[in-house]
Amino acid sequence: MAVVAQPATTEFALTRPYRTDRRSAGRWVLSHVLRHGWLIPIVLVGALGNAVLAGVVPKLVGEAYGALSGAAASTASGVPGGASAGGGSAWDPAMATIIRLAWLLIASQTVRAVLQLGRNAGSEAFGQRLERDVRDELYASLLGKSMTFHGRQPVGDTMARATNDVRELNLMFNPGLNLVIGSGFFLVMPALFGYAIHPQLAIVPTLFVLSYILALRAYLRQLAPVTREARETFGRLNSRLAEAIDGIEVVKSAAQEGAEVARFTANARAYRDAIVRQGEQEARFLPLLLMGLAVTFGFAHVAWLARQPGSGVAIKDIVAYTGYLGLFGFPTFVSLFAYSQVSLGMASARRILELINRSTDLDQNSGGHAADIVGAIVFEGVRFGYDAASPVLRDVSFRVAPGQTVAIVGQTGAGKTTLARLINRTYDVDAGRVTVDGVDVREWSLERLRRQIAIIEQAPFLFSRSVAENIAFGCPDATRAEIEAAAREAQAHGFIERLPEGYDTVIGERGVTLSGGQRQRLAIARALITDPRILVLDDSTSAIDSATEDRIQRAMRRAARGRTTVLITHRLSQIRWADVVVVLRGGTVEAVGRHDELLATCPPYRRIFVRLAPGDVDDVTGDGAGVAP
Ligand SMILES: Nc1ncnc2c1ncn2[C@@H]1O[C@H](COP(=O)(O)OP(=O)(O)OP(=O)(O)O)[C@@H](O)[C@H]1O
Ligand SMILES: [Mg+2]
Repeated sequence: MAVVAQPATTEFALTRPYRTDRRSAGRWVLSHVLRHGWLIPIVLVGALGNAVLAGVVPKLVGEAYGALSGAAASTASGVPGGASAGGGSAWDPAMATIIRLAWLLIASQTVRAVLQLGRNAGSEAFGQRLERDVRDELYASLLGKSMTFHGRQPVGDTMARATNDVRELNLMFNPGLNLVIGSGFFLVMPALFGYAIHPQLAIVPTLFVLSYILALRAYLRQLAPVTREARETFGRLNSRLAEAIDGIEVVKSAAQEGAEVARFTANARAYRDAIVRQGEQEARFLPLLLMGLAVTFGFAHVAWLARQPGSGVAIKDIVAYTGYLGLFGFPTFVSLFAYSQVSLGMASARRILELINRSTDLDQNSGGHAADIVGAIVFEGVRFGYDAASPVLRDVSFRVAPGQTVAIVGQTGAGKTTLARLINRTYDVDAGRVTVDGVDVREWSLERLRRQIAIIEQAPFLFSRSVAENIAFGCPDATRAEIEAAAREAQAHGFIERLPEGYDTVIGERGVTLSGGQRQRLAIARALITDPRILVLDDSTSAIDSATEDRIQRAMRRAARGRTTVLITHRLSQIRWADVVVVLRGGTVEAVGRHDELLATCPPYRRIFVRLAPGDVDDVTGDGAGVAP
């Protein structure tokens, strides 16, 4: 975050067009599903119709067998007047029946194809819509999180969740749930159709379904931890990779490519192992065996029934029943991967929800104090630490009147940047308070507060967009003239003009095409365009040549005009024109006063400048005597 003058959709201010139930992963997915509730009947009717019409095939084939075997029997026994009477044969009515059955088959399977299409299209629509909605929800939630959250959450892990886990949710619906629901109906049909032939023929299918459910439950229970691990190892793999690429300059300059590759390999291996374990679980999938048993026992059963006098089971029923048992093939086969797909999808849903639900420990206070800032800043006994155990700032107190410039000086790690972050509530104090115009910053409406405070960070972040868009980031409606005016003020107009496409030059990722000083001036322009009442310039980087320094210097002086300015700097030239200087040391305030006062009264302060710029100190005090070497 380079400049913290935020657009309208600021921290926590994002309003969603709908609310989802975030109490558990199941409820959360369901609440997403219900948004598109009208698709449910399409999927269910499609699945049920498909299963029923699939059962029609063995039924009709059985009928055809029946017709043929009847004709064969009558030809063999030489029915009187059969072959000779009217020139027709016993085969003719059988053929007529078969042709009628063939037409029925074509008609029923055409309808089935349409229903199947409905089921597939419905599930696909669910999957795609859910993916879109969840991505949307996650993105909005991430933008709304506090800096404490983002400071602790690795970017790569967030990326893995935002891309792959969201994608898994889509796949959970299609093919996952699509096949689970579709094949679910196939489990019921054989028992029903079998029962219609003979009540006893419901026994084998029912036993199969019961043992299938038990086997599947055990399978899924063993699979769940394995799929969760697969998702987690993938997240680790990704976050490490993202970090290595993000820090590629460091990796290369330290010649650590080999070590990074080794780490990547180790992570890739962990991911592969998790996937292999998942494969092992899948290999131990019992229902395939159960299906073989069901077909064998079922066939034996129906054949035995056919031999019982008075059972009414004929050859066509044997054929049909065997066909019905074949319907189990679909659920058995797809359950091998469809359930693990659903299991993966749920693991992903849990991971995404966990990210969304993680607390954001800053509250937006949208109903809070909302006024135009005049510019008085007061720190009263402030204590703050990034983790509660080790405070970075202790008992910090000082005051700045409206329009004044305060310089914060101190050694690296003294807590200067941290102090600045408390003013716009990037973080909240642990004790004491920070007030702006006499009102505790926690009582301000967060959005109102931040819109009037701009922070120019030490290493300003630039987006991979055009220069003009970068300048207008906090103020997207700014005209080109306004953008140029801000750039002129920030002493950036000159170098921008010299860029290949001027203000339309697109900046490479992380501003690699601009120098540190140029980036800083762009950031100043970006701050100026929002016309903030309080401006914080974190300029403690000092590795800049003197010509650039001079330009930044002028830019900052102009920027400070007419607004309260907090200047974090080592540059004596800047400190000189500050109204107040706050000297920080190890997180506490060592001295507060004007530069010349401090030089006269505060030996440690004097020592800082002797080291930094001995000549300057001499200029100010008029003598070099008595200064420690
Ligand atoms: N996001 C963070 N999480 C945890 N600790 C942090 C974080 N940022 C800074 N710190 C710690 O807080 C202390 C003060 O850091 P800070 O960045 O405020 O120093 P600084 O005075 O701005 O230093 P510099 O002059 O080098 O910019 C340091 O010890 C640092 O390690
Ligand atoms: Mg700093």
